[in-house]
Amino acid sequence: MNPFERMVKRYQTHPKVDVTQGRSIAFSRSTTRRLMELIDANAHGNVHGGVIMRMVDEAAAIVAIKHSQNPTVVTARVERFDFLAPAFIGDVVSVHCEMRYVGRTSMEVGVEVMAEDVITGEVRHIASSYVIYVALGANRKPTPVPPLVPADDEENAIIEQARIRRIRMQKIDEEAKQAKEIKD
Ligand SMILES: CC(C)(COP(=O)(O)OP(=O)(O)OC[C@H]1O[C@@H](n2cnc3c(N)ncnc32)[C@H](O)[C@@H]1OP(=O)(O)O)[C@@H](O)C(=O)NCCC(=O)NCCS
Repeated sequence: MNPFERMVKRYQTHPKVDVTQGRSIAFSRSTTRRLMELIDANAHGNVHGGVIMRMVDEAAAIVAIKHSQNPTVVTARVERFDFLAPAFIGDVVSVHCEMRYVGRTSMEVGVEVMAEDVITGEVRHIASSYVIYVALGANRKPTPVPPLVPADDEENAIIEQARIRRIRMQKIDEEAKQAKEIKD
């Protein structure tokens, strides 16, 4: 069987997910790591920002796929992307991702990126981001995902903070939409 046939077969036999049954933050938490090589360099010899952005999108998508148990999630928005410090060739870059907020079909993943000098052991926080994914059904339309249910007080605080931020962002979106309508 060629790899494409195997992939299609795997998705066809995907288990039915009970979207009423919640998942905790811990359920889908995930970290990916990679050694930065010459191919990752920008013109200054540091790691190219686009390399970090791609790693973040890939790593955060894993969390959305795990939470929703749906292989078809699309990136709807990168809400923030703050580069705090450069990463260097030879560093090991780790992308720590966890689910922060879940709507009906959308999922917000919080991301912290660290770079480690593996010789000295120095670890630096180099970037942060929030990425929003939407799960799609077989018809390629948004489809419901399981709710995010806190496992403990710490998770509850994270979800509550994210909920407040989402409400704030929705308000900003509405204002931007109204301003555009007035302009048009
Ligand atoms: C993301 C996408 C599926 C949304 O489709 P849509 O028909 O506008 O969906 P809806 O208006 O029904 O919204 C569905 C959910 O997505 C959220 N959403 C849609 N666009 C969003 C955006 N730009 N930012 C944040 N959330 C968004 C909605 O708030 C809603 O969330 P909820 O169900 O949790 O309440 C569609 O815009 C799309 O396919 N975009 C391209 C995605 C893509 O190609 N990504 C890059 C490669 S993976």
